[in-house]
Amino acid sequence: MHEHRSDIGFPADFTWGVASASYQIEGGADADGRGESVWDAFGRKPGAIWRGQTGDVACDHYHRWREDVALLQGLGVGAYRLSISWPRVLPEGVGAVNRAGLDFYDRLVDALLAAGIDPWVTLFHWDYPQALFQRGGWLNRDSAEWFAEYAGVVCDALSDRVTHWIPQNEIQVFINHGHLAGVHAPGLQLPLREALLAGHHALLAHGKAVGVLRARAKRRPLIGTSSAAQVCMPVTRSAADIDAARDATWRVEHVPPGRRDCFSNSWWLDPLYLGRYPEEGLRFYGGDAPDPAPGDMETISAPLDFCGLNIYFGGLIFADADGKPVHQPQPQGYNRTGQCDWPVTPDSLEWGPFFHHERYGVPIAITENGHQNLDGVSLDGRVHDPQRIDYTHRYLLALRRAMRSGVPVSGYFHWTLLDNFEWAMGYNVRVGLVYTDYATQRRIPKDSYLWYRDVVRTRGACLGTQPSANAPLP
Ligand code: FCB
Repeated sequence: MHEHRSDIGFPADFTWGVASASYQIEGGADADGRGESVWDAFGRKPGAIWRGQTGDVACDHYHRWREDVALLQGLGVGAYRLSISWPRVLPEGVGAVNRAGLDFYDRLVDALLAAGIDPWVTLFHWDYPQALFQRGGWLNRDSAEWFAEYAGVVCDALSDRVTHWIPQNEIQVFINHGHLAGVHAPGLQLPLREALLAGHHALLAHGKAVGVLRARAKRRPLIGTSSAAQVCMPVTRSAADIDAARDATWRVEHVPPGRRDCFSNSWWLDPLYLGRYPEEGLRFYGGDAPDPAPGDMETISAPLDFCGLNIYFGGLIFADADGKPVHQPQPQGYNRTGQCDWPVTPDSLEWGPFFHHERYGVPIAITENGHQNLDGVSLDGRVHDPQRIDYTHRYLLALRRAMRSGVPVSGYFHWTLLDNFEWAMGYNVRVGLVYTDYATQRRIPKDSYLWYRDVVRTRGACLGTQPSANAPLP
């Protein structure tokens, strides 16, 4: 049947964007009085980052931002999610403001707005001041105040033009990888109890930053978080499998059991949106769970306007005979990305938003989704990346299914514009719509850049319809 164009596109007010993070693209490590970041220090540890690579230069975005804004404009996106480098703005983390560092973001925001692009600002995407780490970092309860001070500095400088704010990116990841597993900066391998305490302070910092933004922003702010969503997808659409996938989504104890770490959805999001740690999680962590001070949970649960989800993949879940969730491994030879074990699972962009909206009742924004690959320049001088196009196409169709079944999704931010510094993996994988030639800093828009430009221009109508055996969500 012929569908009307508006039926196959996304809503007219849907935000199409791309996302990035300061440390991954900026470089300019010593430029204009920037302070040291924990990622600078981590990068100097032998073996910490793939082939000893660092973010010292990265994409040199600090100096080439005009060219990068032009690339965003060429893409036609309506929004750009960027993050601010805390040590660039406050070299010691608190106290003296580095005017030159702040001016960089001031100019960037002006240039984006002049290009018709709405900046969505993440305050903390893992770029933590080394000076504060030396004072205990997130383990120090004062870290919440330090973050609030920093939030105030950025708010005073940019909130006359910036509306969308994300205080922190993926608390699960910087707490687990940075403070428990030690594979990300600052590289700590703390006992679980201390990692969860650091996490509690980070939650408190988030809440205080929300308070500062609400009190001081010059334009009414719209605030959310960006969660590293641990998505569970039902193997079939039977009620039993859907219930099992929901159960697994919100458990702090993993399915299958056995792992004790800081990865889960509810441990970090229930405090923000429901004002408490989940009961099952408190039982699971037992004596390792933090003991919130009076008033902490009220501060942490300052109302938010949206829930941002970073979704790259999900795990498959089915119900056993007793209805308990069971994890179904990916089949041999499954389709996967260049990021080690990240499979291609389009339905994660349907079920992740669905379950999160069901639990928290706030609009969803997809603040990251993208494809890791080993792209190279072909003989014809172009970068052909059909896997990224196919991946994104499938995921967007799945997102549209979620929206059709009633999940309010305000926008989609593709991760990311430029190939960049992928944390502990260095420059090992390429995730951009634009290829970065690190030797020359030349940018080459990939095929996916041109494809995504069409998606944005047609508001998703060019994605077409995908005959799907899938029934609508319940
Ligand atoms: C997310 C991070 C982002 C990038 C992507 C690939 O976990 O937020 O910085 O590394 O993964």
